[in-house]
Amino acid sequence: MTRKIAIIGGKGGVGKTMLTSNLAYALTELGEDVIAIDANMTTPNLGMHVGMHLASKTLHDVLKGETKLERALYHHPFGFKFIPASISVNALTGVDAGKLSNVTFNLTGKADYILVDCAAGLGREAISAIDAVDEILLITNPDLPSVADALKTASIAKRMRKSIIGVVVNRRKREEHELSLKGIKDILELPIISQIPEDKLVSESIAAKQPIIEYAPDSDAAIEINRLAHKMTGRKFRHKKPVNMRILDWLVGWMSG
Ligand SMILES: Nc1ncnc2c1ncn2[C@@H]1O[C@H](COP(=O)(O)OP(=O)(O)O)[C@@H](O)[C@H]1O
Ligand SMILES: [Mg+2]
Repeated sequence: MTRKIAIIGGKGGVGKTMLTSNLAYALTELGEDVIAIDANMTTPNLGMHVGMHLASKTLHDVLKGETKLERALYHHPFGFKFIPASISVNALTGVDAGKLSNVTFNLTGKADYILVDCAAGLGREAISAIDAVDEILLITNPDLPSVADALKTASIAKRMRKSIIGVVVNRRKREEHELSLKGIKDILELPIISQIPEDKLVSESIAAKQPIIEYAPDSDAAIEINRLAHKMTGRKFRHKKPVNMRILDWLVGWMSG
């Protein structure tokens, strides 16, 4: 069975693309067959996150009917398959985002997971992405604007009869002004299935064009993403940090009281 999942949140910059690239890799590491699609057609970034932004055939060509789907399906060195979007402004002319569901339909049976990285907002691009999948992974940051946008997204996804796997709260700094997990859960009325901390290493990993789980596998963000991948596949998760990192964590906790 192919699980088709959109990673979506409404607001820009909440971590949709970061989560898509990392989940693609984390699920691959668990032995799953994964296809990641950059469905952010106007401002695509997934290719940049995984170091494949200069592909010659793209989702845009497929949606315009100018290229066969197989020709835009690339094998990433990390083991997953990837359909990039074009970074050229000219490529947008004549693209029908609504045809994305044909793409995911034609890929059904060809992978265990199809992960769709969505555009921000709730315009045609994002709606087409929701339409092209069966399940939604909702991502937000712990602030009211992000949660408000996530709420709208969830409401539309429900109206479109999509199943919402749960909420990923990304960039948690545990600062006083942040919305609490309980607050977010109460607003969205959905289970929070993952909380990923704010981690400078995430930005570093993106600059290095590597998923954080490869770049810094013992970082807290990487551990949380791995935990999420295990949860999504129904596997048990147990991560043992190296001794020196456990001592460092203990010291930091002790110093911050
Ligand atoms: N957990 C995190 N810790 C620190 N920075 C993060 C984290 N998640 C995302 N970021 C930063 O936020 C930026 C936006 O993330 P991105 O995945 O591109 O968001 P979106 O796809 O939702 O617009 C990234 O460039 C990255 O630097
Ligand atoms: Mg993005």
